[in-house]
Amino acid sequence: MASTDLMDKIVSLCKRRGFIFQSSEIYGGLANSWDYGPLGVELKNNVKQAWWKRNVHGRDDMVGLDAAIFMHPNTWKASGHLDTFNDMMVDCKDCNKRLREDHIEDNTCPDCGSSNFTEARPFNLMLDSYLGPVRDESGRTYLRPETAQGIFVNFKNILDSTSRKLPFGVAQIGKSFRNEVTAGNFTFRQREFEQMEIEYFCHPDQADKFFEEWIENRFQWYKDLGIRTENLQLRKHEDDELAHYAKGCTDVEYKFPFGWSELEGIAHRSDFDLKQHSQHSGKELIYRDPFTNEVFTPYVIEPSGGVDRGMLAFLVDAYHEEEVDGKPRTVLKLHKDLVPTKVAVLPLLKKNTEVVELCQKIKNDLIKDMTCTYNDTAAIGKLYRRQDEVGTFYCVTVDVDSLEDNQVTVRDRDSMAQERVALDQLKQYLRNKFED
Ligand code: GAP
Repeated sequence: MASTDLMDKIVSLCKRRGFIFQSSEIYGGLANSWDYGPLGVELKNNVKQAWWKRNVHGRDDMVGLDAAIFMHPNTWKASGHLDTFNDMMVDCKDCNKRLREDHIEDNTCPDCGSSNFTEARPFNLMLDSYLGPVRDESGRTYLRPETAQGIFVNFKNILDSTSRKLPFGVAQIGKSFRNEVTAGNFTFRQREFEQMEIEYFCHPDQADKFFEEWIENRFQWYKDLGIRTENLQLRKHEDDELAHYAKGCTDVEYKFPFGWSELEGIAHRSDFDLKQHSQHSGKELIYRDPFTNEVFTPYVIEPSGGVDRGMLAFLVDAYHEEEVDGKPRTVLKLHKDLVPTKVAVLPLLKKNTEVVELCQKIKNDLIKDMTCTYNDTAAIGKLYRRQDEVGTFYCVTVDVDSLEDNQVTVRDRDSMAQERVALDQLKQYLRNKFED
């Protein structure tokens, strides 16, 4: 399938089945902004939950944080974002289109084909706002362009309140905002997006070791959640593409239909941020080793991923078209921990009230343990196809025999194999399937 066809199909499925809608669509939409629909929000929450489970609850050297989006404006002076968080932009002198210099191919304007560009100028990506009753410079503040700074400014609070010893990390998931000017590629590049970031604090001598460990660890996470290895790669940044704070950086990239692109960056931030905040705030952000009494500014390794980009990669990788008995079948082979709905309960005969009542009873029982839905809006073949298309892991079908033998049919999404399971065993049977 051509890559543009695949992307079009995914965008269409996302809208049709309630994963992702264009923001404020009834007004013509807003560039680079997307809304997550009923199934999309479930998938997105599952991506975040899987990340939190692995990186916070699954380790004893990590804690979580949820910092405010608005921060003191000096934060962004200290972090370097106000001075250096820029894209280099050019204008096409013939059609006036403004473009990112690094996105221009063959020195040609994608709109009019001209090569007549202005000199490149820095364009700051920070979005600002005004807080308080008067709209002047004194109330000017910024929407955070990364969640990371909320962690750095809380370093001392976390150290004092948890008595943590190095090495330890702080994890945070939250919205970030950037005035991106390049549109396209669905949810890949947005102005408002969510990040999943870790700042891992350690002794400077151990930073290189943890940098390598985190690169491996983060690459493995995407694989463990079902992304095919051949669609993932690591890419080390050249020195001239490093962000202003980074000593080194390696990206985890996914082979999207529009080309290899960044899912997550793992950066070696050295002691840049803690030292900058210390200098600008006048507060000491240091660590005293309780065993050696050595006093130093910790180094930081930062795995920084995007929730929206991760979700898009999971969707693209899961999308399959197959032919079954001469008929097309679209199936989202999402990992069991990510599927929006784990189980659908379906009646074989929706006109039989006893069958429908039994379905409802089963659904009401299962829903206490797992995401579960009931649907009777079509014939069974169509119901199966609809559930396949949104990745539902199992379908439980109730027929008239179920009323006599107290058994139901459980259908597996991927193999389509069907098994009769006793009603009193059903919940445990499904629980076992969803266990790690
Ligand atoms: N704190 C480091 C930092 O923010 P980054 O490479 O600029 O680094 C990290 O961003 C991740 O955030 C990216 O790998 C990507 O997944 C996500 N991200 C960044 N800009 C984005 C955008 N405009 N839309 C969606 N996701 C974005």
